[in-house]
Amino acid sequence: MKLLAPSILSADIANLSEQIKLVEKNGADWIHCDIMDGHFVPNITFGPVLVEAARRSTDLPLDVHLMIKNPDNFLEDFKNAGADIISVHYEEVVHLNRTISKIKELGAKAGVVINPSTPVSMVKDIAEYIDLLLIMTVNPGFGGQSFISNSERRISEAVKLRAELKADFLIEVDGGVNKNTITKIKNAGCDVFVAGSSIFKAKDVSIAAAELKKLIT
Ligand code: DX5
Ligand code: ZN
Repeated sequence: MKLLAPSILSADIANLSEQIKLVEKNGADWIHCDIMDGHFVPNITFGPVLVEAARRSTDLPLDVHLMIKNPDNFLEDFKNAGADIISVHYEEVVHLNRTISKIKELGAKAGVVINPSTPVSMVKDIAEYIDLLLIMTVNPGFGGQSFISNSERRISEAVKLRAELKADFLIEVDGGVNKNTITKIKNAGCDVFVAGSSIFKAKDVSIAAAELKKLIT
């Protein structure tokens, strides 16, 4: 099954609840929350308070992408705020197996994220323990960047790794997903499509979400 996960990073936060409801009505399956701390990435977004506000706006799963230093210190806060899926960066977490176990103990689904320069093969020994592998297709930090060209190959490598390990994690793609790139991402084997600016910066949020959903259905 192919899932659409609009990222509220690009939403009009003053109208968060309305914006979430618009995408929910137009094909959103998950709501993606981009958490940035100004250290792991050169930008700051929001924390558990906003995730909790999103939680009150929808029953859709909240997909929380932590682009922060020391994510272990905040797992519980995000779970308590209503996160259903919590993903941490491979590049930041030293004891990844422990962190993944902790996320699951808290009762959330656990994901690992890899930056565009991290080989897919690096997650081989954690892959059988995760629910989600998030492949960054831009350098994390900002919405509205262009899809990096070798990303299709990386998605295919993740599909192959999953088959080799007989694992069952979902493959999610984040960055530069729009109506021009989504079909090749789908064909490469992606399961979950994060889209920020191509939905929330569009003239009509409802039409943009529905169009992307149609292209993956
Ligand atoms: C990038 C974030 C993305 C971002 C994607 O650091 O992780 O989720 O919102 O934005 P677009 O879809 O605009 O590339
Ligand atoms: Zn993200």
